[in-house]
Amino acid sequence: MHVASRSWRHEGRSIGLVPTMGALHAGHMRLIDAARGENNVVVVSVFVNPLQFGPNEDLNRYPRDWQRDYSMLRDAEVDAVYRPSVERMYPPDASTRVHVSGITDTLEGAARPGHFEGVATVVTKLVGAVEPDRAYFGQKDAQQAAVVKRLFRDLDLGVDIRVVPTVREPDGLALSSRNVYLDPQQRKAAVSLSTALREAAHAYASGQRDPERLRGLLLGRLGREPLVRVEYAEVVDPATFRKPGSLAVLAVRIGQTRLIDNHDLALPFAG
Ligand code: PAJ
Repeated sequence: MHVASRSWRHEGRSIGLVPTMGALHAGHMRLIDAARGENNVVVVSVFVNPLQFGPNEDLNRYPRDWQRDYSMLRDAEVDAVYRPSVERMYPPDASTRVHVSGITDTLEGAARPGHFEGVATVVTKLVGAVEPDRAYFGQKDAQQAAVVKRLFRDLDLGVDIRVVPTVREPDGLALSSRNVYLDPQQRKAAVSLSTALREAAHAYASGQRDPERLRGLLLGRLGREPLVRVEYAEVVDPATFRKPGSLAVLAVRIGQTRLIDNHDLALPFAG
């Protein structure tokens, strides 16, 4: 990867990196399109990162379909795919972890201890290998994007972070590799996340600014769906992930499946 990116740089070509865990969908493809628009070379990494999964999470059953991913990446005409093995990324004597403090203490960070350390460590390694000019992340994982921005700023990594809007199904459900876990009944219940966000955005547009009222709206909508168990529903600052703010963030469980979504209520809800 180093040899390839060094030679692209030598030719004066700019490099855009799209980090993924595979199981690609139209959300990932949107990041790839954004990268293509701004760079001469697009590199996609495909690596299911064990370090960011908790002991009771879905690492083993996380969807993996390299043939399908490969044909999507080939059709999208990306310039390179970086697909290291777990052994290559984490040899047994690897002893460095990247920890971002503060912003990782709340919400996703609190619900998934160690998760953001795993993300920060792998993204630092991917950027070290690819040496991109820009790296692309989805608004779908808003806190992840904020953690990565902070990390790159704090460590002077010299890579521009671009955050791409969430791609949704026609009914509003945010695309996610984990949606394949949902049975038809659960899939119907999953629409309530985006419905809740849309309703809260309408209330915000009509002048509602009381964070507890807005939170009540989110909880009320999710509460009407018996299959949905709410992990958190908060309205926070989009940079610090602390209250108060205008970013509505949701995490729920439907059966065994954990889903997240978010929307900045100050913006119209598209989708
Ligand atoms: P993964 O879940 O595969 O997502 C890869 C990228 O796609 C992330 O930046 C994510 O926010 C973005 N993405 C996912 N669903 C999206 C949607 N519906 N619309 C727009 N973008 C979407 O996130 C990870 O992998 C990992 O944590 C990773 C950053 C690769 C580090 O291992």
